[in-house]
Amino acid sequence: MEPPNPTDAVRPLLRVRQVREFSGEPVDPAALDAIADAARWSGSSQNSQPWRFLLVRDRSTLGAIHEAGLPQARSLATAPAAIAIAMPQRPGGGIALAYDEGRAAERILIAASLLDLGAGIAWIPTEARPIVAELLSLPDDRFVRTVVAIGHPSDGSRRPKSKRGEARLPRAEVVFEERWPA
Ligand SMILES: Cc1cc2nc3c(=O)[nH]c(=O)nc-3n(C[C@H](O)[C@H](O)[C@H](O)COP(=O)(O)O)c2cc1C
Repeated sequence: MEPPNPTDAVRPLLRVRQVREFSGEPVDPAALDAIADAARWSGSSQNSQPWRFLLVRDRSTLGAIHEAGLPQARSLATAPAAIAIAMPQRPGGGIALAYDEGRAAERILIAASLLDLGAGIAWIPTEARPIVAELLSLPDDRFVRTVVAIGHPSDGSRRPKSKRGEARLPRAEVVFEERWPA
């Protein structure tokens, strides 16, 4: 069999989009575990693995995070599950930690998409973080900024959000050869 051409090989990554509305169907626990494994195998600065992943399926907890984190957390209104990424509170470590957190969050989106699920990042606003910390019983030295909602996309959220090829800037505006264009 011919190997796929490079464009086709990376196409599953191009299909990873933000899903903010889910059908009522529950997420298979094995799928959530597989997504968590993909996340914990993310690379991190000095392999420090600063994250802890909380798998949340309790609808009342999801609903409370949704309410505390509106409007950013609107995807949690219908999500049957979510992964909250608990990061250390480390003064001065902000950029490296945020970078690691983003890498793990993106892996969660990718893994969900590979399992034909949808996922969406919700950033918890600073003022809502103490509420989320309490809901998730976090220790004092941890906080949650990113909650990734996970579920089966609703019919509406499966529909394209924009015309084909228009959801991102044109390639010529973003990708340059060798040096910044004159
Ligand atoms: C750092 C970061 C924070 C984000 N926070 C939120 C958020 O709080 N709520 C939300 O609905 N989407 C959030 N998003 C999702 C972006 O809006 C989404 O990635 C962007 O609109 C592209 O969506 P698409 O891939 O479906 O085109 C966040 C994305 C990133 C990278």
